[in-house]
Amino acid sequence: MRDSNPAYHIPVLLSEAMDGLNIRADGVYVDCTFGGGGHSAEILAHLNSQGRLYGFDQDADARKNSLPDERFVFIPHNFRHLRRFLRLHNVDAVDGILADLGVSSHQFDEPDRGFSIRADADLDMRMDKRQALRAESVLNTYPEQKLQEMFSQYGEVTNAKTLARTIVAQRNVTGFRTVSGFKQSIGSLVKGNPNRYFAQVFQALRIEVNDEIGALRELLEQATAVLNPGGRIAIISFHSLEDRIVKQFFKYGHLEEKDEQDPYGSSPSQPVLRPVTKKPITASAEELRLNPRARSAKLRIAEKI
Ligand SMILES: C[S@@+](CC[C@H](N)C(=O)[O-])C[C@H]1O[C@@H](n2cnc3c(N)ncnc32)[C@H](O)[C@@H]1O
Repeated sequence: MRDSNPAYHIPVLLSEAMDGLNIRADGVYVDCTFGGGGHSAEILAHLNSQGRLYGFDQDADARKNSLPDERFVFIPHNFRHLRRFLRLHNVDAVDGILADLGVSSHQFDEPDRGFSIRADADLDMRMDKRQALRAESVLNTYPEQKLQEMFSQYGEVTNAKTLARTIVAQRNVTGFRTVSGFKQSIGSLVKGNPNRYFAQVFQALRIEVNDEIGALRELLEQATAVLNPGGRIAIISFHSLEDRIVKQFFKYGHLEEKDEQDPYGSSPSQPVLRPVTKKPITASAEELRLNPRARSAKLRIAEKI
């Protein structure tokens, strides 16, 4: 692999994402989720000396992987502010945008970050340590109904209602502070394989703490404004909810559940994007053998009309 840091994260669907972006050598590109820099290094390899790449990552740890290349600029912020930060760098339009959503292997592997069900740590789960909301505050303060919706929508936890009720009852006794303490408190509710159950619960918490769905929606809305005609957007998602949002947006160019701009269909809204593939691209058997984390990855690509 090029200049990136595979010990930090192995990029998924690498060649598929590059093909999808259809990179022009002198173009301007954005990697919204820089991480270990795997996708970014590959984009740079496709650019000539005129090309430029801007890499966003809200996790301070990712900055250490920043690429020593004068065509590359690291932006240590949330991609939900895409337009604002591009403008700050005097960029009004780009030729391609990539987002490889979710967390990196590094974030999971760092025991003190609180993302992993395997390591004991404080209930943190923030990708961006500048933000105030942590998993601990979600568990100790959210109303029962909100917790239930979170576990059900973001984690597909089957007994979300009982889980939310138990959390609210338990927190009044001791409160939650650590991963192990929390797991112990809900241990009797585990359905099926405990690792799978806790992984679903932790996934829901992580998505909530980092407002991952909100950030994705804001990114999509800004992406169409920033892309040049013919420019491409490629999104790799790991959650069915995210994939549904991306699919919908690529098809209709807006975030409502269906094309509601004209309920009679007589003058449908002007499409702004053209989906390049009908079905999402998934990892090959060979990639899955080398990197099981690619299992649930889905890549969708669209072109600005
Ligand atoms: C799956 S990893 C990306 C890995 C990267 N493609 C590579 O090849 O190494 C996701 C990265 O995006 C960052 N991230 C996730 N959501 C973000 C957001 N809303 N804004 C900025 N960075 C984000 C995470 O901190 C993490 O480092």
